[in-house]
Amino acid sequence: MASSAQPFGIDFGGTGIKGAPVDLGTGDFAQERERISTPDKSTPDNIAEIFVELLAKFPDCTGAVGVTVPGVVRHGVVHSAANIDKAWIGTDADKLFTEATGREVHVVNDADAAGLAEVRYGAAKGRSGLVIVTTLGTGIGSALVHDGVLVPNSELGHLEIDGHDAESRAANSARTREDLSWKHWAKRLTTYYRTLEMLFSPELFVVGGGVSKESEEFLPLIEIDTEIIPAQLLNKAGVVGAALYASEGGG
Ligand code: BGC
Repeated sequence: MASSAQPFGIDFGGTGIKGAPVDLGTGDFAQERERISTPDKSTPDNIAEIFVELLAKFPDCTGAVGVTVPGVVRHGVVHSAANIDKAWIGTDADKLFTEATGREVHVVNDADAAGLAEVRYGAAKGRSGLVIVTTLGTGIGSALVHDGVLVPNSELGHLEIDGHDAESRAANSARTREDLSWKHWAKRLTTYYRTLEMLFSPELFVVGGGVSKESEEFLPLIEIDTEIIPAQLLNKAGVVGAALYASEGGG
């Protein structure tokens, strides 16, 4: 059973909003996760109502709450909304959700949450130096973690490469939208990761997002010099990373 000290993680995604209390010792859910479908109009106010509903399913969990958001977050305020309702821009999400739920809520960029979780519990556990975690989904999310410390809001999905916003060419949504073969997509990913390599010289790339379940189809085809491995926490990374972030008092 969850004790009151356990933090709660919420992963706010395009199709579902998932939440669970997290055991920080193991980096796993402390109770079975619950999921509520994301409403068509996913404005901050609509989402706040869903968080109240979700938290009500875990009455014995009263710890801090971490929430992922696919945008830039500084001191709880959301500053960008590439793939979500534009009403998020300028919203003090920490304040809004804390008031709505009566709980201490800390909002964190979705890729940063995944990055924290992978470095603490997953594919990059125990790795030193610079680790870059990327999530390949609707957009491309990125987390820069140096010796376990996150440098937030790197937003490397929006690098301009060959005159394009990188995620518009190399996200998993571009692969499905354009019906690209794995080989063709891997060529685009090679260009993308080579650019990151040149700019940051990381020790390791970790590749997350739903498509990382099929990593054997495309990771071996990416031609770069840096080690590149699949994420391990898969669809748990957001919830676990958000809870971890909240447990440390947010940013
Ligand atoms: C957003 C990022 C987010 C990423 C993955 C990008 O379009 O700008 O903030 O981390 O998508 O969801």
